[in-house]
Amino acid sequence: MLATKNAAADPGDPGVPAGDYGFVVAASRLPVDRVDEPDGETEWRRSPGGLVTALEPVMREANGAWVGWPGSAGPAPEPFDADGMHLVCVGLSEDEVSDFYEGFCNATLWPLYHDVIVPPVFRRPWWESYVTVNRRFARAVAEQAALGATVWVNDYQLQLVPGMLRTLRSDVRIGFFNHIPFPGYEIFAQLPWRRQIIEGLLGADLLGFQRHGDTANFLRACRRATGKSTRGSLIQVPDPAGARIVRAGSFPVSIDFSAFAELAGRPDVRARAREIRDGLGNPDVVLLGVDRLDYTKGILHRLNAYGELLDEGRLSSPGTVFIMVASPSRERVEHYRILRDEVETTVGRINGQHGELGALGSPPVHYLHQSFPREEMAALYLTADVMLVTSLRDGMNLVAKEFVACRDDESGALVLSEFTGAADELAGAFLVNPHDIEGLKDAIVRAATIQAQEARRRMRSMRRRVRENDVAHWAASFLDALKGAPDQLEGVSL
Ligand code: F6P
Repeated sequence: MLATKNAAADPGDPGVPAGDYGFVVAASRLPVDRVDEPDGETEWRRSPGGLVTALEPVMREANGAWVGWPGSAGPAPEPFDADGMHLVCVGLSEDEVSDFYEGFCNATLWPLYHDVIVPPVFRRPWWESYVTVNRRFARAVAEQAALGATVWVNDYQLQLVPGMLRTLRSDVRIGFFNHIPFPGYEIFAQLPWRRQIIEGLLGADLLGFQRHGDTANFLRACRRATGKSTRGSLIQVPDPAGARIVRAGSFPVSIDFSAFAELAGRPDVRARAREIRDGLGNPDVVLLGVDRLDYTKGILHRLNAYGELLDEGRLSSPGTVFIMVASPSRERVEHYRILRDEVETTVGRINGQHGELGALGSPPVHYLHQSFPREEMAALYLTADVMLVTSLRDGMNLVAKEFVACRDDESGALVLSEFTGAADELAGAFLVNPHDIEGLKDAIVRAATIQAQEARRRMRSMRRRVRENDVAHWAASFLDALKGAPDQLEGVSL
């Protein structure tokens, strides 16, 4: 359906014959994780993470192929079909999991792109592994893509794929979307391989970012790191076939609003929400935090603010319970291990100080270092009175949008960091600077004591926004821009 435009174009490298799929998604993860059972059987389980949630409905509709890593070290299994998608595995060796995934992706790029909350580590063997793995992905995509196909490459793990793919298959149309922030140039410039990253990205026809600020940062990096000319959102890129014009723009990602709304309306999910609240001893106020256990999420800032509110008696236990879901993530990376220790110490301190022997229900913090299925998440979103999203830096934060989508009675309040992409859209939230602990405490108290009418007004506006700008809208606007990109640019010179 999407593969028509360049059907007569040169398929490029004769070593990579065109494949069968008119629409190919490349992402570091497959939408499923491989689980090797002790009895030798292999099971595929839906993997956690915002990207999967965002792209899965689009893939189903377009009947495309998804190229990704199955989530554990080892050779790639043969392609297979699941959930209406053709899944193509890219295998990573043990060394590549350590150098590419844990190293360059999550100890170099992740902290660098999140404003160096922890110091990024620059190691040359990690970069070499990044190049090797990106090349493997580019080749796998090139093998699947039909002549003139549309290819959508996702996220910071695969920034070299657009350029490598263009060399292999000049006939395909390439979009790249960055799900995480793109940092200011003064930070990006620290990267020893900054020029190669920009050149790799510029292999795409369209580059999508979450916020206008990310796009502006990227355009500046194009000028500063590679000397490219830009005008507005257009970048001129020299090409063997004459100069190409690449476009950059912001496309805020979203969620499948109706799927969450539907879940939240299910009698079993609503009953589960009541059961959770009963199990907590029916407190007056339930606060909720849901994150991957990641230092970008401001989990300690949130815990410290809550602890101080209890210390000061502005909130009380057991009248208030904070359910904190922190799902396991990147557990072998040093800063994630350090964070886990700090979080668990802090939770223990708050519970030790404010828990009551013999009190009904829960301790002040109900900490869950686990991942849950969507049904349970929807029940938790329904249970909460206040959702706390306190990221220090976050591309979007889909959890904030999921919470809003579940609140069909328009109750509940959202405390939201201004350093998330979601803050640009959810004006009905209590916006906070998570570094300002006093401001954060005030916002939590205001949200916990909000009048029903004000909560309704705020929630209604946020729900409208997410309903009208759901994941289908996001994907359609990106794909429309990608389809139109080169045609709209004919005759443009910079
Ligand atoms: O949204 C950012 C992101 O890194 C995605 O690319 C990824 O799927 C998700 O977070 C989970 O991270 P990981 O793949 O490292 O578990």
